[in-house]
Amino acid sequence: MKKIENNSLSIKNLNEEVELYGFVGKKRNLGGLIFIDLRDRSGIVQLVFRPEDKDYALAETLKNEYVIKVNGIISKRESVNEKLATGEIEVIVNNLEILNTSLEVPYMLTDDTTALEDTRLKYRYLDLRRNSLQNNLKLRHKITMSARNYLDSLGFLEVETPVLCKSTPEGARDYLVPSRVNEGKFYALPQSPQIFKQLLMVGGIEKYFQIAKCFRDEDLRADRQPEFTQIDIEASYVDEDDIMSVGEGLVARVFKDVKNIDIELPLMRMPYKEAMDKYGSDKPDLRFGMEIQNITDIFRNTELTFIKDIIDNNGIVNCLVVKNVASSYSRKDLDKLTDYVKTYKASGLAYLKIEEEISGSIAKGLTDDEKEKLVEELSLESNDLVLIVSGQYNIVKVSLGALRCKLARDLNLIKAGDYKLLWVTDFPTFEYSEEEERFVSCHHPFTAPKDSDVDKLIDDKANCYSKAYDIVINGYEAGGGSIRIHNQDIQSKVFEALGFTEQEKQDKFGFFVDALKYGTPPHGGMAFGLDRLTMLIAETDNIRDVIAFPKTASASCLMSEAPNIVSENQLKELHIKIDN
Ligand code: AMO
Repeated sequence: MKKIENNSLSIKNLNEEVELYGFVGKKRNLGGLIFIDLRDRSGIVQLVFRPEDKDYALAETLKNEYVIKVNGIISKRESVNEKLATGEIEVIVNNLEILNTSLEVPYMLTDDTTALEDTRLKYRYLDLRRNSLQNNLKLRHKITMSARNYLDSLGFLEVETPVLCKSTPEGARDYLVPSRVNEGKFYALPQSPQIFKQLLMVGGIEKYFQIAKCFRDEDLRADRQPEFTQIDIEASYVDEDDIMSVGEGLVARVFKDVKNIDIELPLMRMPYKEAMDKYGSDKPDLRFGMEIQNITDIFRNTELTFIKDIIDNNGIVNCLVVKNVASSYSRKDLDKLTDYVKTYKASGLAYLKIEEEISGSIAKGLTDDEKEKLVEELSLESNDLVLIVSGQYNIVKVSLGALRCKLARDLNLIKAGDYKLLWVTDFPTFEYSEEEERFVSCHHPFTAPKDSDVDKLIDDKANCYSKAYDIVINGYEAGGGSIRIHNQDIQSKVFEALGFTEQEKQDKFGFFVDALKYGTPPHGGMAFGLDRLTMLIAETDNIRDVIAFPKTASASCLMSEAPNIVSENQLKELHIKIDN
């Protein structure tokens, strides 16, 4: 490999003869001299062509993004460019070769480009030349290497698992692949290697990991892709503390290796119930305060009938106290916040402003005693704004939790470069799905219930808690896992609790339940979302920024135009007819 990285050159190489390769970045013609920014993946070095040079005329023909090879002598620049790593030097070119020309690019490939994301995704191969994407991919590589080395050092084996699988339930829809040789049958792409990694434990592998591709056909968001990558881990003879210690050790190692940030271990642990109570989310963002406060008791005897009705129907009254902003929130601003909480199903947003008097939408309906209690219990001070939602527990918590994060963004309460990590523990085993009108797994059906809750699996599902844990970074779920069920009777009970019939159990998981009968070691594990972890470390809130070839929110690739129609012949071979 003869290619030198541009950024490796410095004043130390003065007068050396070098051969360099790269793209033509910027070209300037100043006082007869031609200056070219030669760009490679490491950075930029300045090339100089003087009118008397042999290839001066050829240099004049260079355009942006041409690919060139140059030979030249490193010399000292007259005016140093502090912004460039190679800013003290330039290369006086004595030989130029154009390796390839380029069409005019659809937009300038600079970090501050204003090109629309759709255009950038269509020309992703060009967008990848931009510094910010190059840096993100380098960061992703470093994170992957750091995680690999860490797990290897602990004796974990990297084992690959199949991509053409039988459907496994992780809560999302499967991507299906028709089988040509088995007419009418389909593979499912893995939503995660969950079942296989557990079978590796049955197979005696003891400590497994994999940088695994996962596929989920679900509604996409800024932090979700239809295909994404997990750092997937499983180990035998472990309890929650063992896996959490491996998981937090991995994150700490990665932060140290790639950002030189020391993460203090052990990480804080917060039960799910506390996270919901205080932050209205199972992935609380702890970079700012503004916890949700419960003021139901103050309103027990309220004259405000709409609140009284809610409390009488087992509802709650909760609020956020936003410090020192009351005077800067107009009626219109508050209406906007009301609309915002309504998108989370809240019926409305009441507010109080602490000014000389307490004013606001429900101020007139409060007794002096209630006002006094609010001031005392919420430690209210002049110019505070109190935002109140009343209703059923989940709606109140989730809407105020979302509002809390929105206000933090609006009011710039989050310090750049700040990282707050924690474990959320003690998750319920099941959650009720209004859509499916049944209990579904909170994590997945292989999660072990707490030993004390095994008897609640069938008759008291709402109060059954599991040995599951999520690792949360800055309000994102960066990873999650659990201790698994290794006993076939308990596994069978969980399937029953989820409403599977004997036949469904057999059809979907027969092979897996059978495997549990052959001396399965107790085991557990977790998986990190590699894309999400990279996104957090790269300090972007768009997961596409850390994936070389991402999909849009409608799960398509604007560059290759996947998904697309296929030929009649292909369909025929697969025994598929499209029903228009
Ligand atoms: P889970 O479903 O929580 O657990 O996924 C683990 C982590 O993967 C990331 N993630 C995603 N990232 C991008 N796009 C998506 N669509 C997406 N979905 C999930 C998240 C999440 O925390 N088999 C279990 C793990 C286990 O129990 O060991 C599993 O897949 O960061």
